[in-house]
Amino acid sequence: MSVAAVDQRVVRAPVSLCVLCGLPAAGKSTLAHRVLGAAAEFGWRAAVVPYDDLIPEQAFHTQIVEHGVEVEDMHSNWKSHRQAVLHSIEQFLQRPEVATKLQISSLINSTAWQQCTQAMLRPEDLKCDGTPLLFLLDDNFFYPSMRYEVYQLARKCCLGFCQVYLHCDLESCISRNSSRSKPVPTEVILEMEKRLEPPNPQKNSWEMQSISLDTADGVSKCDVQKVMELIFSALKNPLSQLEDNTEQKEADRLKCATSVVHQADRACRRLISETMKAARDNQAPSDRMRLMAAQLNEAKATFLHNLRQRFLQEAPFFQEEDIDAEQVAKRAVRSIFDDQRKDIASRFINNGE
Ligand SMILES: *[C@@H]1O[C@H](CO)[C@@H](O)[C@H](O)[C@H]1NC(C)=O
Ligand SMILES: *[C@@H]1O[C@H](CO)[C@@H](O)[C@H](O)[C@H]1NC(C)=O
Repeated sequence: MSVAAVDQRVVRAPVSLCVLCGLPAAGKSTLAHRVLGAAAEFGWRAAVVPYDDLIPEQAFHTQIVEHGVEVEDMHSNWKSHRQAVLHSIEQFLQRPEVATKLQISSLINSTAWQQCTQAMLRPEDLKCDGTPLLFLLDDNFFYPSMRYEVYQLARKCCLGFCQVYLHCDLESCISRNSSRSKPVPTEVILEMEKRLEPPNPQKNSWEMQSISLDTADGVSKCDVQKVMELIFSALKNPLSQLEDNTEQKEADRLKCATSVVHQADRACRRLISETMKAARDNQAPSDRMRLMAAQLNEAKATFLHNLRQRFLQEAPFFQEEDIDAEQVAKRAVRSIFDDQRKDIASRFINNGE
């Protein structure tokens, strides 16, 4: 499998994807351009992949909406755009001379894509040229799942992969933001700060190749040096498809299942106690109440057991943004347990003496 993937990749040179993540105005673009300069000194071909320019604004204009459908739509919409960016990188690696034109009926801005890949296309033939290729992915990447998408591409195409987290306190980001050409609304920065989960190699083994830079005072020469060392190591150690962190996936799956079941359990308890209250209000005799409570609890136990089993079978590897444990739990409770509850309740309440 691994061999086939390498064969599909026409670009034979070492390639690395480097994720730059952090809050808006943390200094990602500044760092990216400094790294571009350093890469050029080594004779590498490098490009910044600026998500802000590639993905149209309307892809996430509902970002702030907290509850309900809009967040889900925005998430899947935004995800498709991110996938389109990664797909374009993949196509570029397969057919560099064609892929700059963005054949795919792409979601991303083709002018911006062309600008981004121009620097990669030297007159020399890419196919035989061994000079390294570097993609610096410039976005917020605030959820691990967003970075994981990049990791998956690196693994699929056997590329190097590394991440740089730009840590910058809120005040510095905010004060820097005001001088940007495309300032970001305050709410967006604040919301993002709440959600930001920086790379955590202890928790996610796939995030091993990550460094964190403090960029409150700007990007130093030493920072650029550190990033170059990281990229150098990533180029030398491309991922392989066999590197399948099954253990990690399994741990994530179990954690997610536990969370869903926990949420569902709470929702069921609430429903049961409401039902009991209704029965009391209905002056159901206490023996009937006890029987009903027992049946409701049995139904709950079975439901939770099945929910866990089903979730573990069906969830290959959900990412946090795809899976809102609370929503999944609510939906399951509404569509399954609630019917059983009504059924049981109808046998004990309002069925006359
Ligand atoms: C596409 O990107 C180019 C270059 O960044 C920009 O000038 C243009 O306005 C963008 N087009 C759209 C539709 O956003
Ligand atoms: C960023 O700058 C713009 C324009 O100066 C301003 O409207 C916006 O509130 C700023 N955002 C933050 C988080 O300060």
